[in-house]
Amino acid sequence: APAAGPRPATAPAPAARPRRLRSTAATRRLVAEHRTHPADLVLPMFVKGGASEPVALGSMPGVVQHTLDTLRHAAVEAAEAGVGGLMLFGVPAERDAVGSGATDPDGILNVGLRALVEEVGDAVVVMSDLCLDEFTDHGHCGVLDAAGRVDNDTTLVRYQEMALAQAATGAPMLGLSGMMDGQVAAVREALDADGWTDTAVLAYSAKYASAFYGPFRDAVESTLTGDRKTYQMDPANRREGLREATLDLAEGADVVMVKPAMSYLDVLADVAAASPVPVAAYQVSGEYAMIEAAAANGWIDRRRAVEESVLGIQRAGADFVLTYWATELAGWLR
Ligand code: PBG
Repeated sequence: APAAGPRPATAPAPAARPRRLRSTAATRRLVAEHRTHPADLVLPMFVKGGASEPVALGSMPGVVQHTLDTLRHAAVEAAEAGVGGLMLFGVPAERDAVGSGATDPDGILNVGLRALVEEVGDAVVVMSDLCLDEFTDHGHCGVLDAAGRVDNDTTLVRYQEMALAQAATGAPMLGLSGMMDGQVAAVREALDADGWTDTAVLAYSAKYASAFYGPFRDAVESTLTGDRKTYQMDPANRREGLREATLDLAEGADVVMVKPAMSYLDVLADVAAASPVPVAAYQVSGEYAMIEAAAANGWIDRRRAVEESVLGIQRAGADFVLTYWATELAGWLR
C-alpha cells in the first residue's frame, strides 16, 4: 500500500465559524432558539376512587395514584412551581359496560376535577381526560356493539354526556382522547347546546396505538385485553397524522395534540407547520419510564435527559408539553 502523503502545512480557513456563538454560556443563552418555561408544561395526574393512601406506581417511579387529599396538595405544589396546566385521569373503584362512572357527577374523575378547580381556580388550566377506557369493564375507549367491536357512533353519545358532566365541574378544557371519528364535532355541539360555549376542546388528534402507554395502563388499572388498533393510529403512518389533525380543526378543536411525543416528532412537526391553533404533545408514561429506568441504572444523567427530551419536543413544534416531570422540571427552571 502506498505510504500516506505528507500533511499539508496549512488547512484552508473555514469560510464560516458557527462555533463563535457557542463560545460562552452567555452567547449560547442569547441565541437559544427554544427554552422551556414552566407555563409550557402540563402535569398529568391520577386520582383513585375510595383511596385513603396514595398508591405508588412501580412502572412510573415518583408518580402516584392520588387520594383526593394528596391530589389537592400536588396541584398546589404544581401551581407554586408555575406549571401551566393539570390533566386529570380517574381510577374508579367500579366499572361497567357503558362506563357509567364517567358521567356520574359523583364519579371519581368529576369529583377530582371539582377539587382541582376549587384548589387552583383560574391560576392553572384544569383539563379532563374525556374517554371511557378507565370506566368500562372491558377497558376499551368506547361502548361495544353486539359483535364486541367498539361502536363509534354510540360512543359519541356517551362522550357528549361525559362532556356535559365534566364542563359542569368547572374544568375549562376537555381532553378528548378516545380517537372516535367525529368526537370533536359531537362534543362541541353538545357543549354549545348546553351553554358551555367557553369550555375548550383539546383534541388528541394524532394518537397512535403505542407500546409506550404500557405504564399508564398500570396507572389506571386498565382491564383491557387485546389492543386499540381499530381506533388508535398505526405507527407506520405520518401523512394520516396531519389528516386527523385537519379533521379535528374543521370540527372545532381549540388545541390539537400529538401522542406519544418522542417517537412521533415528524408528525408533530407536520401538524405544527399546518395548524392555525396551538399544538400540544404528550410525553407519555413509557417515555417517562425509559428515562427513569436508565437514570436509575446510572446510564444517563437524569436531569439533562429530562430537559433535553422536553426541549426536543418543543423544537419539533409543541407549544406546550404534557409530561410527568412537569412540577420537578418547572422547579429546576425557576
Ligand atoms: C386513554 C389514554 C391513554 C393515555 C392517555 N389517555 C392510554 C391508552 O390509550 O391506553 C396514555 C398516557 C400515557 O401513557 O402516559 N384514555
